[in-house]
Amino acid sequence: MSRSLASLGFAAGLLVSTGAWAVELSISCSALGKEYEICKQGVDAWAQRTGNTVKIVSTPNSATERLALFQQLLAAGAGDIDVFQIDVVSTGTLAQHLLDLSSKAQGSIGDHLPAMAETSRVGGKLVAVPWFADAGLLYYRQDLLDKYKRPVPQTWADLTETARLIQEGERKEGRGDFWGYVWQGRAYEGLATNALEWVASYNGGTIVDDKGEVTIENPKAAEALKLAAGWVGTITPEGVLNYTEEESRGVFQAGNAVFMRNWPYAWALAQGADSTIKGKVGIAPLPKGGPDGHHAGTLGGQLLAVSKYSKNADAATDLVMYLTGEDEQKRRAVQGSFNPTIVSLYSDSDIAKANPFIGDLVDVFTNAVARPATVTGQNYNKVSTEFFNAVHQVLSKRAEAAQALNRLDRDLKRIKRNGWE
Ligand code: GLC
Repeated sequence: MSRSLASLGFAAGLLVSTGAWAVELSISCSALGKEYEICKQGVDAWAQRTGNTVKIVSTPNSATERLALFQQLLAAGAGDIDVFQIDVVSTGTLAQHLLDLSSKAQGSIGDHLPAMAETSRVGGKLVAVPWFADAGLLYYRQDLLDKYKRPVPQTWADLTETARLIQEGERKEGRGDFWGYVWQGRAYEGLATNALEWVASYNGGTIVDDKGEVTIENPKAAEALKLAAGWVGTITPEGVLNYTEEESRGVFQAGNAVFMRNWPYAWALAQGADSTIKGKVGIAPLPKGGPDGHHAGTLGGQLLAVSKYSKNADAATDLVMYLTGEDEQKRRAVQGSFNPTIVSLYSDSDIAKANPFIGDLVDVFTNAVARPATVTGQNYNKVSTEFFNAVHQVLSKRAEAAQALNRLDRDLKRIKRNGWE
């Protein structure tokens, strides 16, 4: 009897160690720069630990295309993807398809940055766990500012002037493809984040205010958009109208621009061993809209969620808890400069050493400007689509700023009708 029990136990142990009980999960993580590789390392570590297998499903780089793909898969009730990487502005839109993770994650959610933790709850459910935080930043070439004896620009007017001067100077030295400023101008969510920064920096509000009022039609917002339209074809290549994060990083990292607007992930790549601009780059807050304006970086970031249609919800939840945990967030911050969402990691010396800007720019991260996703709820994607399309028209000179904002105001009020929900 005892012998057969012992052999049963032995057999069970064998089963665990050979992974015969293992499940196969799939996770969608994005693949900007070395994001895929860094995600894979984390996922593989969990798989090895637990004896499960995990497949990574790669997704489009554009946040807008990615959301459309997720909506399509989830609306069909597809269980093909167990774990989703979800944009901080999309938890409301996707909540109905996501599992309530309260029982596993409720206890630790208070450890995360409040702005990220807030979006993880929708209608009393904890639908996602924060993974990393983003804020829009100004990348600059310190070597070129030194060469032309210019300070880091404080206002957009300074940036425009310095970009023009350095672009002219570099072109005179035979660098015909050198540009002043690159950013994200394609008609997609990334443009909404850039344009919100311009508008907010001029004190032109956040499209829709906290009470749900549409505020975008105002002279400050028009001024901000006019300024940006003036960059296209002068200090910024026309091609920016089709740039996402990676296209702008491509130009900047090849050494062909003095300024770039991007998220923190670009730091680890710019400082990578194979980077032509390694050691020549600095990061600052994005410029103010004039002396009365303020520095504004849009809050971005990503969370991990489990699909309601997952056939292996327990294992999927365990994977989410592992990837969003302290050790993984630290590894990702050190190797890929993904800003942690766990507050205590902001005093970690390894993270600070790898990413000096995190400590220097505490204000940018704590005062990051949120898009109006909470107040517009399910309608956020529509609001943002109207916004980036209107901005894209102004940038491509198909509409005047005031006229585009007037139409946008009307369209947003139509979406709102009697309220946002
Ligand atoms: C980054 C941010 C996300 C934002 C997107 C726009 O992925 O984390 O919040 O919506 O960029 O391109």
